[in-house]
Amino acid sequence: MFNKDLYFSNLQTKVLGKNILIFDEVSSTNSYLIDNYGNIGDVVVAKNQSKGKGRSGRSWLTFRDSLAFSVLLPIYDAKYLLPLNILAGFSVVDTLKNYAEVKIKWPNDIVVNGLKVCGMLIDTSFNGSNLEKTVLGIGINIINNDFPVDIKNKATSIQNWSSKEVKKEIILSSILNHLENYINLFINNKLDFVTLWSNYSANINNDINIHINNIVTKYKEIGINNDGCLIVLNSSGVKEIILSGEIGYDFGD
Ligand code: BTN
Repeated sequence: MFNKDLYFSNLQTKVLGKNILIFDEVSSTNSYLIDNYGNIGDVVVAKNQSKGKGRSGRSWLTFRDSLAFSVLLPIYDAKYLLPLNILAGFSVVDTLKNYAEVKIKWPNDIVVNGLKVCGMLIDTSFNGSNLEKTVLGIGINIINNDFPVDIKNKATSIQNWSSKEVKKEIILSSILNHLENYINLFINNKLDFVTLWSNYSANINNDINIHINNIVTKYKEIGINNDGCLIVLNSSGVKEIILSGEIGYDFGD
């Protein structure tokens, strides 16, 4: 059960999450907001997603007591989509750090001790070349520990790392509070996320593996740029900018 009173008592936003739709099951909360009429700030939460979507065409499993939600955001310029990943990551870290030492694996996986606790996916719809809808979807493992074999040693749940009870309603409202604040600062050019990144990154100054189209390359992470792209040094010490890809999970990289 989702306790709306608890959620609203902690929500301090002007726009995000004022209207919340709660479903027992939808195919995907992201798809729901893309496919149906909605107002900016609308949030959809689902106990279960029959076709939860992950990044790079993968599926996302919504476990019992996971938090799966999406929010419709006022972003109409595609150049803001990568920065939005970063702002969303900051918002989740600011929320979950009350329970565990969470960090971001670029662009937006949230990890505890190298294990993934949260994933995010931005979906968009265009009218011709106009960005019409931007939907940010976030999935957080709250107390599940029964992960399928293929992700068992890569995933974790936030409750494992804290003796404080983790309540989804507080997590969701708190993420929205932070996100609205970050988006406002960002729009008004008052957010230096490039500098902030080093406090949030799981891998700053570390050797990392980047996977792009099944090719794995070793780099050292040195930061992000104003577009939200990852700045790395290659094995010859030359700076490169990474626009997409994933930082490897393989342990001991
Ligand atoms: C990833 O790490 O691959 C991204 C996972 C994103 C999952 C969330 S759960 C809520 C929203 N609805 C979806 O179908 N996906 C996102």
